[in-house]
Amino acid sequence: LPDAEIIIVSNREPYIHNRRNGAIELQTPASGLVSALEPVMRACGGTWIAHGSGSADRDMVDAQDRLAVPPSDPAYRLRRVWVSEEEQNGYYYGLANEGLWPLCHIAFVRPAFREEDWRFYRTINQRFADAVAAEATTPDPIVLVQDYHFALAPRMIRKLLPEATIITFWHIPWPNAETFGICPWKEEILDGLLGSSIIGFHTQFHCNNFFDTVDRFIESRIDRETAAVTLAGHETLIRPYPISIEWPPAALKGQLPVEACRRAVRERFGLAPSACIAVGIERFDYTKGILDRMHSIDVLLTLHPEWRGRFTFIQVAAPTRSKLASYSRLQDEALALADEINARHGQDGHQPIRLVVRHHEPPEVFELFRAADLCIVSSLHDGMNLVAKEFVAARDDEQGVLILSTFAGASRELTEALIVNPYDARSMAEALNAALLMPADEQQERMHLMRQQVREQNVYRWAGRMLLDAARIRQRRRVLA
Ligand code: G6P
Repeated sequence: LPDAEIIIVSNREPYIHNRRNGAIELQTPASGLVSALEPVMRACGGTWIAHGSGSADRDMVDAQDRLAVPPSDPAYRLRRVWVSEEEQNGYYYGLANEGLWPLCHIAFVRPAFREEDWRFYRTINQRFADAVAAEATTPDPIVLVQDYHFALAPRMIRKLLPEATIITFWHIPWPNAETFGICPWKEEILDGLLGSSIIGFHTQFHCNNFFDTVDRFIESRIDRETAAVTLAGHETLIRPYPISIEWPPAALKGQLPVEACRRAVRERFGLAPSACIAVGIERFDYTKGILDRMHSIDVLLTLHPEWRGRFTFIQVAAPTRSKLASYSRLQDEALALADEINARHGQDGHQPIRLVVRHHEPPEVFELFRAADLCIVSSLHDGMNLVAKEFVAARDDEQGVLILSTFAGASRELTEALIVNPYDARSMAEALNAALLMPADEQQERMHLMRQQVREQNVYRWAGRMLLDAARIRQRRRVLA
């Protein structure tokens, strides 16, 4: 690890304190960003600056808005930043989630860009940049800026801490130049990001899109050979760093043997011990292809009626960004579609689709993964998708089949999954049928290879690669100074 102070900036915080029925409850958010970075921070220590979003968050901090986390076994510092409801509506719901989120994901939801959201986005980016400067105890920390909530922060941090090594990681896809051109503030966003020392994406494909976008909209020097953009004498490296999960995952500790998980989950859902179960577990987000996978189950049960009564799909959907119409509409549509499919294919009180709309903590998620015969990840578009990697990590029995969308970054690494096009309901239904019929030895061969991949390319390696590149940049600056 480089001998430097480490500061992370993200919107979502790793620990949320909520007040419920008079008591304070600790929640781990459903966020790929958090599941990847939290173990890294536990290992390296440092400061994590994030939005204090919980209803009891203010009660848990000291006078400087800080607290030591994990609360049970402190390893690093969480600094909470406060954002008013009005600011959150503009910066988080508005610009970040109604503008940049649909802009960067090809899910055919029209991005909305409003002048007032942009104003709040700028204000909050500046607030977090100021928090970095306030928290830094050295002039040249390594600052890890996370995701599309903070495209302007790198340049702002650079102004306050000119010697900082700033790594910005973009957790979602980067679209092609033509699509990005929709954004009214494309130049400002690119300029903000190019305040970074390094910008990281999950795949080379996203790096290429970023180069094309810079090429189209900003006067700069691009060197694709060294993968660098130079703007006004400052160089930014553009690199792929495929994100991953910790190995072994903390949520695996204390899990019962697979057989016991299988029994417990089947009992809980009132299913026979021999029932076949598929699971889908994620935030209730339109990019995840939840409706599409339900359609494919409809097709499966039509083409292969022999599965009726024997096959159950459990969808765990954690409510997310529900204030936005695009999200509440999805929830309504999914509930209606589940009812429709259950009416069409249900029999003797058996419902093929069970939709559970609530947040699950990681141990519950892992129990479901261990109980399942298959896991469906059918994202319409996804930067990486860590659910796919978590399913693989949960299966220390080397059984279970992963059905994985070709439009998730993870499909580049987990090539032994059954790779599907979620827009093609019929072929996805056939993949489901093949998964249900897959012999145990083939499951084992595929799972074994995928587990090897995730174990070797775990999140410590992801962070290690970035930090090593950051260390090189710092050293070079010292030598050349
Ligand atoms: C995606 C984003 C993360 C975000 C997560 C959960 O993975 O890339 O930045 O934290 O979704 O969404 P939320 O809006 O609840 O933080």
